[in-house]
Amino acid sequence: SRFHALVPAAGSGSRMGAPHPKQYLDLLGLPVIRHTIDALLAVERLETVWIVLAPDDVWWAQYDWPHDPRLQVLMCGGATRAESVTKALEMIAQYVPDDTWMLVHDAARACISSAVVDRMLEALSEDPVGGLLAVPVADTLKRADKQGRVAETIARDGLWQAQTPQMFRIGMLRDALAAHPEVTDEASAMEACGHRPRLVPSDASNFKVTFPEDLAMAARILGAARE
Ligand code: C5P
Repeated sequence: SRFHALVPAAGSGSRMGAPHPKQYLDLLGLPVIRHTIDALLAVERLETVWIVLAPDDVWWAQYDWPHDPRLQVLMCGGATRAESVTKALEMIAQYVPDDTWMLVHDAARACISSAVVDRMLEALSEDPVGGLLAVPVADTLKRADKQGRVAETIARDGLWQAQTPQMFRIGMLRDALAAHPEVTDEASAMEACGHRPRLVPSDASNFKVTFPEDLAMAARILGAARE
């Protein structure tokens, strides 16, 4: 089969005058998303790496990007992550077979390693459904009440934290997202259609850069990987 990657990078803050969107924050002298792109382009089996930008993105053009014909940009981002992914899939699905594997990966997960993605391709390429990278939950989880007191302790056995890439066949994923536009990740849309995505063990280094203080942690992880 064929393998493509899709990177939603149309997150808020990309409008003129807004603060730096997180995918363009500086990480070791490069925008966060550049590290994400480099890791994905290093996976040889990925035929195309699609980047989804907001139609009014003013940042992308300010940087240099790898001169690799496998890197393609779509300016079709929407109001939510799911909408950005849905619009991109509808466009790409016109040009590739329905059984093409699509690895949807957050721009902000810049510490993804090509080795982990390769492992995911090995684990899932014969799978009837597909799946996602995830890590077992290590902490005890509490549900809070409205007063900020513990209402319930949730047993952590069998609980996993979902990451990306989330890898599904483009035809099934497009249909699932069209039927369930409210989801926050691709796996949820597949689950809502009755599919059971496989969890592929990952590690904590593939975290989502969300707060400014995450940049120092990401720099340490990427720095260590280079040594
Ligand atoms: O905001 P959040 O961390 O959930 O975003 C996850 C990913 O989805 C980011 O890479 C962000 O750029 C992308 N996104 C998008 N379109 C949106 C909102 C978020 O592509 N409307």
